[in-house]
Amino acid sequence: MADTTPFLVIAIDGGAASGKSSTSRALSARFNLMHVDTGSFYRAITFKLLEAGLAPTDEAGVQAALPRLALGTRVDGRTAKMEIAGWTPGEEIRSAQVNENVSRFAAIPAVRKFLLEYQRGQAAVARAHRFAGLVMEGRDIGSVIFPDADLRFFLEASPEARAGRRAAEGQVDQIHERDKLDSTRKTAPLVCPAGAIAIDSTHLSLEQVVGKASELIRAKGLRD
Ligand code: DC
Repeated sequence: MADTTPFLVIAIDGGAASGKSSTSRALSARFNLMHVDTGSFYRAITFKLLEAGLAPTDEAGVQAALPRLALGTRVDGRTAKMEIAGWTPGEEIRSAQVNENVSRFAAIPAVRKFLLEYQRGQAAVARAHRFAGLVMEGRDIGSVIFPDADLRFFLEASPEARAGRRAAEGQVDQIHERDKLDSTRKTAPLVCPAGAIAIDSTHLSLEQVVGKASELIRAKGLRD
């Protein structure tokens, strides 16, 4: 009998520390979805551009440098990791310096254009690795990258709850500053797109958020 299990594309957007990563990872494990953290892509690119001595104000320099970044993908467990000319980014992309600059580089249209097809191409990577689908987290996944995704979630949480989460991770991060830059940029700003399912996690545990999302995923035909 033919396998009628669908291949699901699930988009999870939200501000910094809104719970996207924990939720995406949990859903990935529960439904065997490939997990794609697009924030890590913008962070890796930021790290490389800073390493090349470029500032986010130098748009022409950034545009000239991008084609030299040879992007690849390595699937590590259930996570798709970006490789740049054989380098796999590690914890260095979570540094205070990257936190400080990533939203500025991500606002450059050439940077977003450079990553657009790469991100869409992750669906083919997930199919090739026989995952049941992919769960991709970011800022513009449900609005720009996969507007036709099977499910689009938008996670929210109060500024206090989000600051507390980052502090618990021991990270220095200007959440408010980054959200402001991400929400007000001209190209692909952070928005809750029409039709997306908003979940406010301020007073919810991770299990409760994952539970809500899981119900909707099951309704689309996937089994845990
Ligand atoms: O998810 P994160 O906090 O690691 O993302 C880091 C930055 O990358 C975020 O401040 C803005 C940018 N980003 C983006 O512009 N678009 C995405 N889809 C994902 C991240």
